[in-house]
Amino acid sequence: MKLTLYMAITANGYIATQNHGTDWVCDTDWAQLERYVENSDAIVMGRKTMEVSGDDFPYGNNKLNVVLTTNKSLHVDSPTKFITDLAPNELLEELEKRGLNSVLLIGGGIINASFLKAGVIDEVILSVHPLILGRGINLFKPVDADLALELISIDKYDEDLIHLKYKVKKNVEI
Ligand SMILES: NC(=O)c1ccc[n+]([C@@H]2O[C@H](COP(=O)([O-])OP(=O)(O)OC[C@H]3O[C@@H](n4cnc5c(N)ncnc54)[C@H](OP(=O)(O)O)[C@@H]3O)[C@@H](O)[C@H]2O)c1
Repeated sequence: MKLTLYMAITANGYIATQNHGTDWVCDTDWAQLERYVENSDAIVMGRKTMEVSGDDFPYGNNKLNVVLTTNKSLHVDSPTKFITDLAPNELLEELEKRGLNSVLLIGGGIINASFLKAGVIDEVILSVHPLILGRGINLFKPVDADLALELISIDKYDEDLIHLKYKVKKNVEI
């Protein structure tokens, strides 16, 4: 099982404006995200991200979209939508049982923090956009957990977009 976090961020680490705006996320990034979605067995997101995704949800071509929510009335289990309140570790076990081994976590900040706390993130890809927002939604909601990273690659795209790819160093004290 490999869990990759993929997020578009501002140069100061926000993933959306305070009002959930992501119009600043460029087309090049959307195309990259699509590529990662297609190359993953399943994607995982929080309930709020599902809600702001509109017609983009469910993402991908017949891809399993997992959404975490405590709202049981939203829970479903179909070939493209698995809406559940499983804890991150339980969820990954369940996906593994279903033969799904590469999982893409696509936000937002609250669910990212849940997975950070659970210690199950293996790889982090940050698509850094050339802007700074004075206020916004953090990449991770504040949480008592840290990650040490090893830089794997830096790629520069048009529109001054930079992709940072990191491997998570497991069991490192910070
Ligand atoms: N820049 C990017 O790449 C990017 C990507 C994704 C999202 N975003 C932005 O991020 C914003 C949304 O992020 P957010 O942090 O506000 O919310 P979020 O993480 O998308 O969703 C939070 C919700 O997910 C559910 N949840 C999270 N962890 C859970 C767990 N362990 N168990 C059960 N349920 C869990 C809860 O739903 P319930 O309250 O229903 O229980 C929680 O309120 C939007 O503005 C979106 O546009 C940006």
